[in-house]
Amino acid sequence: MTDRSSKPRILTGDTPTGRLHLGHWVGSVENRVRLQDEYDCYFLLANMHAFTTRAEQPADIRRDTIEIVKDWLSAGIDPERATIVLQTEVPAIAELSWYFAMLLPFNRVMRNPTLKTEIDAKGLGDTYSFGFPLYAVGQCADILAFRPELVPVGEDQAAHLEMCREVARRFDVLYCGVDSHAEDDDFVDKGGLFPVPKMLIGRVARLVGTDGSNKMSKSLDNAIFLSDTAKQVKKKIGKMYPGQSREPDEPGNVEINPIFEYADAFMKDTAGLDELKDRYRRGDNLGDGHVKAAVIDAINELLEPMRERRAEFEGPGGDDAVIDIIRQGTARANAVAEETLALAKEAMSLDFGRRDLSWR
Ligand code: TRP
Repeated sequence: MTDRSSKPRILTGDTPTGRLHLGHWVGSVENRVRLQDEYDCYFLLANMHAFTTRAEQPADIRRDTIEIVKDWLSAGIDPERATIVLQTEVPAIAELSWYFAMLLPFNRVMRNPTLKTEIDAKGLGDTYSFGFPLYAVGQCADILAFRPELVPVGEDQAAHLEMCREVARRFDVLYCGVDSHAEDDDFVDKGGLFPVPKMLIGRVARLVGTDGSNKMSKSLDNAIFLSDTAKQVKKKIGKMYPGQSREPDEPGNVEINPIFEYADAFMKDTAGLDELKDRYRRGDNLGDGHVKAAVIDAINELLEPMRERRAEFEGPGGDDAVIDIIRQGTARANAVAEETLALAKEAMSLDFGRRDLSWR
């Protein structure tokens, strides 16, 4: 095993709400897979957050948690190199959440635009739990417990990341004596416990769904899942509306055709893609079926190796293997998070003694 400790850290995660789709892939998962060697990576299963909107569905949350690990492993996350962390078994995260809640004005949390969007999208109205807005504070703790440099996330997480950066600055200024005018990159050098972590957005910030207009999302039923079969991919792309009605020999508009957004995102053969676009624009006997076929091939080329890796965890014993990976990763994660918590408490004059966490 390579030496993890000398590498800068990454922390990111997913709330287990269902299977991952291509929007997650281009928005964040692809970056995680790519950065596994360069960084000491921690990938968090935010199962506590799932309870903030689905407290009455514990069994489903457990199932979704295991499924998301299968998605990660299929996508190419390697538990030998990266650490998979179960949020509910890292007590330091829950403790840090409390301390961080004291560093954020209540109204600042409630104005968080990502929370507002979620309240609308999920129809939570004004009946959501107290824990729901608290998860945004908890997310600061998820991140800072690992003192990472980098957080690869989709652009919808920007507001949470900005809040996390504020918490890091505020803690370092209040409890570590860092000058409040220090540059973000200098906080640790100037004596701060927490780095002010940077956000890394994926190469496609917003991937359109197969409905051709909304962002890809499980709840809108417009998603292509990483676990879809070749046949399902073919069917979903096959049904897409190309944004215009035209004959193969009529000029087409690439810009209004959502299928070309997928071509841009997934076709590796850029020369072939340019030629396809040229012919489409000219009306050079190129039907929409042809474009779709190229996109179906490109997506299946991406998903095929994932299907092969997934097969290893599909049979009997698959769930147990996943739970084992979760346990090993979480044990490793607790070592880091407990150290962070002890240092934070020391900075806050709360160092009355050190406890040991044991994990079975
Ligand atoms: N809120 C994130 C999402 O819904 C998941 C998440 C929880 C997360 N904790 C995190 C992401 C920490 C990055 C860092 O996608």
